[in-house]
Amino acid sequence: MSLKDSALAVRENAHAPYSNFKVGAAIRSASGVIYAGCNVENIAYPEGTCAEAGAIAAMVAAGETQLTEVYVVAGSPAPVPPCGGCRQKLSEFGASDVVVTMATTGGMEQVMTIGDLLPGAFGAEHMKDV
Ligand code: THU
Repeated sequence: MSLKDSALAVRENAHAPYSNFKVGAAIRSASGVIYAGCNVENIAYPEGTCAEAGAIAAMVAAGETQLTEVYVVAGSPAPVPPCGGCRQKLSEFGASDVVVTMATTGGMEQVMTIGDLLPGAFGAEHMKDV
């Protein structure tokens, strides 16, 4: 299955009764395996999690820590970019040149990189002793 098809398929399982906004994310790891995640909302609203976070959690749970490609899809009029928190999460496991494709269920796609989405990212180099 392609990254796009994985994201579309997992989006169907999103638990989004509060926003009614289903999101699917699929990431390819360094080994070539695809991991997918959907948003999982909660009646205690701040406890909800994003699709990207679910996909990353699945990859890490499987023992992998490097992602090489990302695809995010939602039923929106225009491609939806990852939220700020998810940009930082993607940056933890993906290099700045990793391609992130944002898509709509209607077929629109917008392609950016993690570096485009999170310029000046906080990273390990900022924690070095001076
Ligand atoms: N959401 C995601 O899962 N990923 C994004 O990139 C943007 C937003 C979810 C969170 C929440 O369940 C719903 O979309 C509305 O914000």
